[in-house]
Amino acid sequence: MKRTIIVWALLMTVGSYAQNLKLTADNVDKIVEAMTLEEKAAIIVGKGAVAFDGRGKIYDYVAGSAGATNPIDRLGVPPIVYADGPSGLRIDNKQTTRFPNGLLQAASWNVAAIESLSEAYGSEAKALGVDVVLGPGINIQRNPLCGRNFEYLSEDPLLSGLTAAAIVRGIQKAGVGACPKHFAVNNQELNRLNNDSRVSQRTLREVYLRNFEIMLRHSDPRFIMSSYNFINGVTASENRDLLTTILREEWHFNGAVVSDWGAGYDAAKMVSAGNDNIQHGTKSAYNRIIESVNNGTLNIDDVNTSVRRLLRAAVQAIRYDGGNFTDNPPLDRNALIVREQAPEGFVLLKNKDNILPLSKGDRLALLGTTSYDFIHGGTGSGFIHNPYRSVCMPEGLTDAGFTLDEELHRYYLDYMQGELKRCEKVNKNVPWCCEKERAMEAVPRKLISEAAKRDRAAVITLGRVFGEGMDRDYYHSYLLSDGEMALLRAVSDAFHREGKPLIVVLNVGGIVDMTMWQDMADAVLLCWQPGEEGGHSVADVLAGDQFPSGRLPVSIPVRYEDDPTAANFPRIKADKYENYSFYRYNGATPHYDVPNVDYTNYEEGIYVGYRYYTTRNVAVAYPFGFGLSYTTFDYKDMKVKDKGDAVEVSLTVVNKGARAGKEVVQIYCHAPEEGLDKPVRELKGYAKTSTLQPGEQERVTVSIEKDLLASFDESASAWVAPKGVYTLVAARDADTPVLTAGYKLSKPLRTDCRNVLRGSFIDQ
Ligand code: BGC
Repeated sequence: MKRTIIVWALLMTVGSYAQNLKLTADNVDKIVEAMTLEEKAAIIVGKGAVAFDGRGKIYDYVAGSAGATNPIDRLGVPPIVYADGPSGLRIDNKQTTRFPNGLLQAASWNVAAIESLSEAYGSEAKALGVDVVLGPGINIQRNPLCGRNFEYLSEDPLLSGLTAAAIVRGIQKAGVGACPKHFAVNNQELNRLNNDSRVSQRTLREVYLRNFEIMLRHSDPRFIMSSYNFINGVTASENRDLLTTILREEWHFNGAVVSDWGAGYDAAKMVSAGNDNIQHGTKSAYNRIIESVNNGTLNIDDVNTSVRRLLRAAVQAIRYDGGNFTDNPPLDRNALIVREQAPEGFVLLKNKDNILPLSKGDRLALLGTTSYDFIHGGTGSGFIHNPYRSVCMPEGLTDAGFTLDEELHRYYLDYMQGELKRCEKVNKNVPWCCEKERAMEAVPRKLISEAAKRDRAAVITLGRVFGEGMDRDYYHSYLLSDGEMALLRAVSDAFHREGKPLIVVLNVGGIVDMTMWQDMADAVLLCWQPGEEGGHSVADVLAGDQFPSGRLPVSIPVRYEDDPTAANFPRIKADKYENYSFYRYNGATPHYDVPNVDYTNYEEGIYVGYRYYTTRNVAVAYPFGFGLSYTTFDYKDMKVKDKGDAVEVSLTVVNKGARAGKEVVQIYCHAPEEGLDKPVRELKGYAKTSTLQPGEQERVTVSIEKDLLASFDESASAWVAPKGVYTLVAARDADTPVLTAGYKLSKPLRTDCRNVLRGSFIDQ
């Protein structure tokens, strides 16, 4: 009898212990032990489908959020709620801030500004109960026609990596997680679920993985998103070499990997590759995990590893321990931040006779349908459904103290009403992923020539909007349309006849052709997609209340065909009604026939963007790193110091002009060849000055981690930097060196890597 009582008491204790067992930061292993296989599969597989057109949205936690993990209530495991995207929260029913897109942020070359902007974003996610922001998008801008370039950062891995790290630090400072994406080599939208990126090991290491690696050196994201595409024959989300060997073993990433929504074919393969959370999640993925563990094809240790990573993220979730949130994001404060910070990334491409800034009080002829239908951000998962503000050019210019030409203004208000109605009708049938119909350019010549007599200057805004699910059409999106060319011609003729300037504002998610038209413009301001206060931010710059201090994060070629990837990038005629993500989609066994659709050969190798233009001496319209200021700067006293693990470059920047400005000092390197061909210029570091008043100077210091001087030698499977003299160039842009100094590396460097991600079909 006594024994029975003891056994019963013991069972009760264990039972109530299991009942009281709740997840904490210190008991993750115990929770894993206590979980059933079904619970493990449930946390690995996301809560369900989501679509951009409203079907199947996750409404349990945050309306319109992208997805969530399944909670396990009995063990105190909360859900982790994910929401898009890189430029602000894409959720329903709540207003959110439309932040400047990633491309603009990279164009700011200002990590401190990026970090504070991102903290403002993170605070909004926290207030609205979102645990993980699905961004930044950091894939290399390999080709100007990629549909997602507006949310991606740069053609250069260092600029991408450092920008991404600043975004991650900022978002996470606010107490929520960031999720850089899409790992890796997801550089085209066409057939993105089936396209095989065929890339050499050197190119992967130096370009397409390097941005992620640099980001991880400078930040600690809670999540990374694996991409849809194949890399040298294996899908990213089922790729153990990518997600475990490189990401965890070589780079020591501590967070969790979540798949892109619907990526991967075999849930068991995904988990054993190191893909911890499968979104959006399907019943068949859940069953597949259970069945694979039971039949021994999926190792339970791999399952437990993924579960452990997700539990560690769950401890940080907002709903952990019943946590609550304000539901009241600081929208007014964030609007101000967006307005003030956007000009950090505005790139002044042209400013003939310093016509900018204009004088407040000037009467302006405002033209171009985009002035009235300003583009604040891109489309797809990066689209913001309910932006708090949407400031267009008329409001911005008027608030800045300009007067608008009344007749033109009235004409446009009336014309746009009809055009917007027409577009709305057409766009009803255009799927979420496809380019939407926009107002056509049309304005009577007579109005233009009369305005030219009355007004001080003409301002034309040209726009381009695109996004996920489709690459840009060369004719309709990269080149200017006939209507746009006719407008430019008419305005340029009329205003120049009167001795008055034409200013063009480019409100675009990526570069456009400049060669056809730029001679007609006196000034060109590239403001990208600057977020919800766009009209104000642009007007502040035109009025001189703010100055543009961005530099191009991509090169602008003379002709699209000059781009080194032009021959190996799809250039298809876009059909408005097709979702191009699924173009020639064939499930787990893709086709391998059509180049650039079924597979894409990265034949240009490491010579992407300016690495190609500078090395092969190909002229560009505007080089990488280019950007004018309202003033000019001199550089002097360049010094190079060996600091052990780093090389420190310092120099003095002097504001030589009559206005305030900020300079971006770019340090490029030309490394000794020693068996490997090397680009003439590679960006190794940069620094942006603070605001310098006329005559003011600042000493800037750029620290270059020595191992960034190395190149990847495939034959040794190692990063190698031979001893010798490394030429360091302090430059205004990739084509404009100012000061040069040598750095002598006296001992060669070598870091061995695992020989993985080899593609047999690529000439190595
Ligand atoms: C996109 C991701 C996005 C996800 C969730 C996918 O289609 O590629 O960037 O975060 O959907 O909405």
